[in-house]
Amino acid sequence: MKAPTAYCIGVLTLSDKGAQGERLDESGPLVTEMLAVIGKVTHKAMLPDDITSIARLLVDWSDREHLDLIVTTGGTGLTPRDVTPQATLQVLDYQIPGMAEVMRMQSLAKTPHAMLSRAVVGVRRRTMIVNLPGSPKAARENLQVVLPALPHALAKLAGDPNDCGIK
Ligand code: MTE
Repeated sequence: MKAPTAYCIGVLTLSDKGAQGERLDESGPLVTEMLAVIGKVTHKAMLPDDITSIARLLVDWSDREHLDLIVTTGGTGLTPRDVTPQATLQVLDYQIPGMAEVMRMQSLAKTPHAMLSRAVVGVRRRTMIVNLPGSPKAARENLQVVLPALPHALAKLAGDPNDCGIK
């Protein structure tokens, strides 16, 4: 079984402007720093808001690279170019609705705009995929909510047979 801090993680930033070099990616590095408590970010990428390329990379990082966790940032809102949840849903085997719900619920205390994020969380094979909104503030606030549950979730996903609640 992996140590709680030994998970392999991918961070994927979705931004048309970022991919064209017109905007600096602040959220990717921020998320990478926050995730250091649970594992190592071994894969990083930035893609434009294109559903086919996003889905392809998620499948590659899951099926070929066997990452434990992929965290995406950006593209969860309502503009016509926001397609991260659609791409993620295309590749998930199943969703973990509670994790997305609690991110939105806790975020509502910060801004009513939190309800505009369509972020989804779920699993493809042995890889958990977590969508976060794109701004550094929103990415940080949302990741903070689910971070404490991630080591346990990833251990279960990796096949930890121990009963929940028993150390
Ligand atoms: N959640 C938190 N915690 N804090 C925020 O500032 N911004 C919201 C929302 N979620 C926000 C948040 C806004 S303004 C939008 S439009 C949606 O996330 C989607 O963001 P995205 O399109 O960058 O993914």
